[in-house]
Amino acid sequence: MCGIVAYVGPKDAAPILLEGLQRLEYRGYDSAGVVVSNKGLKLRKVKGRVADLAKVVPARFKGGLGIGHTRWATHGVPSDENAHPHLSADERIAVVHNGIIENAGELRAKLEADGVTFLSETDTEVLAHLIARAADENDSLEEAVRKTLKSVVGTYGIAVIDAERPGEVVVARNGSPIVVGIGEKEMFAASDVAALVRYTRQVVHLEDGELAVLKADGFHTFASDARETAKEPLTVDWDAGHYDTGGYEHYLLKEISEQPETMTRTMSGRLDERFHVAHLGGLNMDARETRSFRRVKIIGCGSAYYSGQIGAQLIEELARIPADAEPASEFRYRNPVVDPDTLYVAISQSGETYDTLAAVQELKRKGGRVIGIVNAVGSAIAREVDGGIYLHAGPEVSVASTKAFTSTSVAFALLALHLGRVRDLSPADGRRVVEGLRRLPGQIEEILAQGDKIAELAKKYADHPSMMFVGRVRGYPVAREGAQKLKEISYVHAEAYPASELKHGPLALIGPDMPTVAIVPDDELLDKNLTTLGEIRARGGRVLMVGHREPEAKLADDVIVIPKNEIELDPILLTIPLQLLAYYAAVALGRDVDKPRNLAKSVTVE
Ligand code: AGP
Repeated sequence: MCGIVAYVGPKDAAPILLEGLQRLEYRGYDSAGVVVSNKGLKLRKVKGRVADLAKVVPARFKGGLGIGHTRWATHGVPSDENAHPHLSADERIAVVHNGIIENAGELRAKLEADGVTFLSETDTEVLAHLIARAADENDSLEEAVRKTLKSVVGTYGIAVIDAERPGEVVVARNGSPIVVGIGEKEMFAASDVAALVRYTRQVVHLEDGELAVLKADGFHTFASDARETAKEPLTVDWDAGHYDTGGYEHYLLKEISEQPETMTRTMSGRLDERFHVAHLGGLNMDARETRSFRRVKIIGCGSAYYSGQIGAQLIEELARIPADAEPASEFRYRNPVVDPDTLYVAISQSGETYDTLAAVQELKRKGGRVIGIVNAVGSAIAREVDGGIYLHAGPEVSVASTKAFTSTSVAFALLALHLGRVRDLSPADGRRVVEGLRRLPGQIEEILAQGDKIAELAKKYADHPSMMFVGRVRGYPVAREGAQKLKEISYVHAEAYPASELKHGPLALIGPDMPTVAIVPDDELLDKNLTTLGEIRARGGRVLMVGHREPEAKLADDVIVIPKNEIELDPILLTIPLQLLAYYAAVALGRDVDKPRNLAKSVTVE
């Protein structure tokens, strides 16, 4: 949600900021701006994309200190005025901000009563005015920022520069990520390592409440009480190449196509063929503790939640422990009963989703045992949990999640195997699952090879105003994820239902204008699913079936046949054609596939 970049060093800041903003644009993309310090602050900001900003940043924008921002609107419409950076009235202080200042209305009213004129509708502009006032009364920018933040209620990741201190940037974090990048006689900061990896892979993540002062020759970090903190730099595994489209037309197609390798990385070093178990050292749990849980509760948002539903099913089937998934965004607000015998699992690709992070914090506050399934190493959720499983899926840039979804499902299969094998899952069943997991990457290749056929089907179905997705039990989360992908990137209305529930209401919607995508695996529910297809077709509904073989009777208009794995693992494979269907539908409809309207990659606000 919004992107921040900051630079201080011997080079010109503007090209570095623009390049960094381009890398961050997937986090928010309705307006963008930069400010550079060179005998005063030079500002350019526009409604639109970073490419539009680059057109208005003149070549004479020199200066080795600057901050930049790409925005996803919260307070005020996307406009030139509301774009960040925001300046103080005397144009001394510039601020970029991610997050939400909850008491902005009250602070603004006080400032206006004091004669300050606001140029934007944003909550952020109050910070610029307040820091400027504090800077007049304090000897350091650091102190001015610290003092201002004491009066602020809400979440923030901020970067601040002062025209009168041309060699330093102050950054601070509370609920919105800030990463410091350590260069050779130059320093960087950003809301995501994506903006930094071209320049440095040595980074430091700020904790909530921390503030850092960056100068070209180094940095210092401080806790909220101004005590200096000691930080150990981390080396980022990913380099700039991981953030390129790699010759694909869109990041989304690249990320869909990478899944054979990404899930291989998720499994790598974790499968044991001798005892048919999964080694998950990151859980930090011995066998006795692993056996002690009586329930598993999974939380996550959006697609992460749907992969959690796949995970709950895997855990119930393989480990026979009652398990369920719930949106973290709901869980955190309902004062949940936290049970000491339950293992809580938080899922997040970015590791920064605010609702999921807040749910984890609530669980920990109440003494819950929480593990994470996270992609971004060192992210806030990864740091907050008691242990976990990293996906190692590499950076996911496209707003729609694909490879993280399937890697999360694979991580759940590993967790289910781990929990199962310390209980009653037999070695034979353990072997069946291990072998099934090993077959997945090759089978995904086979599905990807059907890309052209799926593209044709996508064109055929994309012009319908609405589509129904149905699946039973293991197929239901697959249907939900398929509908989510389609609506998210093609803007075609898509509704997902358990196939068993169709006749209890939504069948009324079925007709020639509303085709159904039906998830029909070859499992014990095959006949039930085929009956549902018959009911749909009897009402004039068209059916696109995704399954393991053509039905004998003419129950579907079109069929995508995919390879069969073990029944528990089939949902992972059934997801792939639906990703391709959504992708090609979005392309056919001319949508902005990687940056769909109104969305952002990491939702770091409530
Ligand atoms: C997925 O396609 C969505 N963009 C969205 O639902 C996403 O999965 C959700 O916001 C959670 O993100 P996270 O995994 O980074 O926490």
